[in-house]
Amino acid sequence: FHVDMDANETDKGTYPFYMLKEIDEQPNVMRRLAQVYLSETGEPVISDKLLNSMKQADRIYIVGAGTSYHAGLVGKRLFESLTQTPTEVHVSSEFAYEEPILSKKPFFIFLSQSGETADSREVLVNVNAGGYESLTITNVQNSTLSREATYTLLLHAGPEIAVASTKAYTAQIALEAILAKALGEADNQIVAQRFDVRHQLGLVATGIQALVDEKNKIEELAKASFLNTPNAFYIGRGVDQNVSLEAALKLKEISYVQAEGFASGELKHGTIALIEKGTPVIGIITQEKTAGLTRSNLQETMARGAHILTIVSESLAKPGDDIVLPDVDELMTPLLSVVPTQLIAYYTSLNKGLDVDKPRNLAKSVTVE
Ligand code: G6P
Repeated sequence: FHVDMDANETDKGTYPFYMLKEIDEQPNVMRRLAQVYLSETGEPVISDKLLNSMKQADRIYIVGAGTSYHAGLVGKRLFESLTQTPTEVHVSSEFAYEEPILSKKPFFIFLSQSGETADSREVLVNVNAGGYESLTITNVQNSTLSREATYTLLLHAGPEIAVASTKAYTAQIALEAILAKALGEADNQIVAQRFDVRHQLGLVATGIQALVDEKNKIEELAKASFLNTPNAFYIGRGVDQNVSLEAALKLKEISYVQAEGFASGELKHGTIALIEKGTPVIGIITQEKTAGLTRSNLQETMARGAHILTIVSESLAKPGDDIVLPDVDELMTPLLSVVPTQLIAYYTSLNKGLDVDKPRNLAKSVTVE
C-alpha cells in the first residue's frame, strides 16, 4: 500500500471545509490502518496480551456515544461473525446508570474518536472499579479513555477537526474488522481464517476513492432532493440499518434536516404515517439476503408519495439505482455505503449556506455528562 498523508494534517489546504477534506482522506486512512495493523502477508499484528484477554471473554460489550456508538453497531456484526462471541453495543450515557447484568467474563471495548467523552468515561470508571479489562479504540494518543483502559488501539486517522465525524467512523469499523479477524483466527474460527482483511481493505480504499471521485454527481442529487425538505428517512436492514442511523445523524447534525434511520421492515408499523408527497426515503441495500425486502419497503413508501433514492452494492444493483457501490465482502459494506451519505449531508449543508464544520449547538468533544 502506498500511504500519502498531508505533511500538515491540520491545514485545510484548498478545501472550503475540513469535513470534505476528511471525507476525501478516507481511502488513505484505510491504507494506513492496513499498514499499521497488518503484516506483509496480511496477518493482523495485534498484541498477544490483548488477544489473550479477549479470548477469555464470554461476551464483548462495546460502549460509545454518537457516531462512535454507530461504529459499534457495525462492530457487533464483525465480532459475532468472525469470533462467534456474543456482542452487545451500548450508548454510554445509558450504560453508565442502568447497571446492566454482566456476563461472567465480560470484555469492554470503548470507541471514542476524542478519547474524552465524559459519558463513556463514566462507564470506564465503573468497569475499572469492577476490576474488568478493557480496550479503548481512539484517535487520540494519551487521551483520558486511552490512559484509563487496560489496552489502547489508535485509529491513526489524523486529526479530525470538523464536528461531524466521518473518517473516525470508517477507521473505527476498519479497526474492528482487523481486531475481529485477529481474535477469530486466534480462536481457530474458519470464517475468520477465510476473511482476507487486507484484500478487503484494499477494495474498500479503492471503492471509497471511486465514490469521492463522483462527488459532483452526489452534490447534484443532494441539491435536487434534500435542500428544501424538512425531513428525510434512511432505511435498511441489518448493517444497512446500522449505517442508516449514521447517515441520518450526519444529515441532522450539519444540515438541520430532521432525519431518521430506520429498520426498513419496521417502517410500516407506525412511522410510515409520516411519509408525504415528496418525502425523501433513501434505501441502503448491500446485503443479498435482505435486498429484495428493502426494495419492497421502498415501494411501500413510494406508494404513499415518497421520493425514493437508492444506495446499492454493484452485485445487487438494478437499472435506475441512484448510487452504486463497488462490491466488497458483505461484512465491509458499511465502509462504502456511508460515504455517499456523508457527501449528501455535506453538500446539503454547504448549499444551504451553513457552517459545515461548526454546526449550531454541537461540540467536537463533550466533556460533561
Ligand atoms: C460529540 C460529537 C459527535 C461524536 C460524539 C462522541 O457529540 O459531536 O460527533 O460522535 O461526541 O465522540 P467521541 O470522541 O467519543 O467519539
